Amino acid sequence: MQAQPVAGIILAAGKGTRMKSDMPKGLHHVCGLPMVEHIGRAMKGAGVERPVVVVGHGAELLTEALGDSYAYALQAEQHGTGHATLMARDALSAHDGPVLLTPGDTPLISSRALTELLARHVETGAACTMATCILDDPTGYGRILRNATGMPVRVVEEKDASDDIRRIKEVCTSIYCFDSQLLFETLPSLRNENAQGEYYLTDVIATLASSGHRIESAIFHDQELLMGVNDRWQLAEAAAALNRRILRQHALAGVTIADPINTFIGPDVVLEPDVTVEPMTVIDGKTRIGSGSRIGPNTRVVNSDIGSGCTVLMSHLSGVKMGEGSRCGPFANLRPGAVLGEHVKVGNFVEIKNSELEEDVSVSHLTYIGDSHVGSGTNIGAGTITCNYDGFTKHRTEIGKNAFVGSNTTLVAPLQIGDGALIAAGSVVTKDVPADAMAVGRAKQEVKEEWAAHWRRRKQSDNS
Ligand code: UD1
Ligand code: CA
Repeated sequence: MQAQPVAGIILAAGKGTRMKSDMPKGLHHVCGLPMVEHIGRAMKGAGVERPVVVVGHGAELLTEALGDSYAYALQAEQHGTGHATLMARDALSAHDGPVLLTPGDTPLISSRALTELLARHVETGAACTMATCILDDPTGYGRILRNATGMPVRVVEEKDASDDIRRIKEVCTSIYCFDSQLLFETLPSLRNENAQGEYYLTDVIATLASSGHRIESAIFHDQELLMGVNDRWQLAEAAAALNRRILRQHALAGVTIADPINTFIGPDVVLEPDVTVEPMTVIDGKTRIGSGSRIGPNTRVVNSDIGSGCTVLMSHLSGVKMGEGSRCGPFANLRPGAVLGEHVKVGNFVEIKNSELEEDVSVSHLTYIGDSHVGSGTNIGAGTITCNYDGFTKHRTEIGKNAFVGSNTTLVAPLQIGDGALIAAGSVVTKDVPADAMAVGRAKQEVKEEWAAHWRRRKQSDNS
């Protein structure tokens, strides 16, 4: 049977006053992505092709950040969740069938939960299927009222509830699946005669139930699902919970996470089995790390592709490609465009930018390599600097294979150093060096016999 198309609505027009921010609430990041993007991905994972985001406060910022894999509906003034949902009617006019609906501030919603909710909705043929939770402390949430047969018939907001109703522990999560047509038929009839003077989406339940439609519910036991973010502390708690979920997935897939409290891994990171992540490590962006590699401690890797069997120790890597069996650190700074071949060794206090290092290159200490190409097997001595910038333009340094650059060498680009060339330590190299040649560019050493002894004697007699 062909699955019925499912639509999706994310309500994200609210101001989020308690965030104390100029940014709309849904744009605040949790684990490297805007909250709304997490929810949108969960929806897409449940089969929604193009979720409709209802925007209001900071509408432009939201649409710009989220891009065109979403449709947008504007709620210019915020008159409640029911009013917000109605704004999505035009965007969904062509849709007939189920529509998933979520708030924009619950970033831990998973596609699995939404898939389950949708499946239950389709299976039962209900007009609405609501996700509910049973909480020890339901304060602040809408409470679920059921009739004698156990069917949900009404949701009462905390502010409108009697003491009896406030004692109900089953709450509305604001995650629903509706029959699209019934939803949009019902919304215009909502009234705002309640404590907040708002059009409540929750009132759709009572309207549908009283006109004989079937309301279903799915009780979710994972309370993380409705972990709502209203202030920055809840944002931090949601980030911690989501990070823990990501770490757990990696661990169960064969990654060693030495310290789950102090390890942060973004949602788009790919870790192969037998990767080890040491404490105080952040891996983010579109990063892949090959099997058997060891990352950390005290390391940050962003948007990088690390091969298998690599070691990255106390280093910072951004936009880097690292071949199999290479190692870097401690204290290496590998910047965008650093491309390391296999078995490359980058040691302490080395910075590499926009440069290719072929296999078996060794840059072990205190060096800057920028806008360069280094051939295989070449050794770069301690304190080598490529002078790639003249204050106006960047210039390239090309170093051949199996060359040897002595310590404390200054390579003034543009410059070419041939295969097998040898640069004497302490040289300032300004001219190209052919293959297999030796270049020395420093003052010639003078040795004056007995000079120091004479000098000391003179100083001593001056002072006596
Ligand atoms: C809502 C539910 C409550 C439920 C709770 C779960 C209603 C009336 N109440 O309350 O039963 O227990 O969620 O978290 O639905 N929004 C708009 N436009 C508006 C108002 C809100 O887009 O005019 C958006 C907000 O940006 C937010 C979402 O809707 O993402 C929920 O709004 P919020 O004000 O947080 O509802 P709650 O009071 O939490
Ligand atoms: Ca809320």
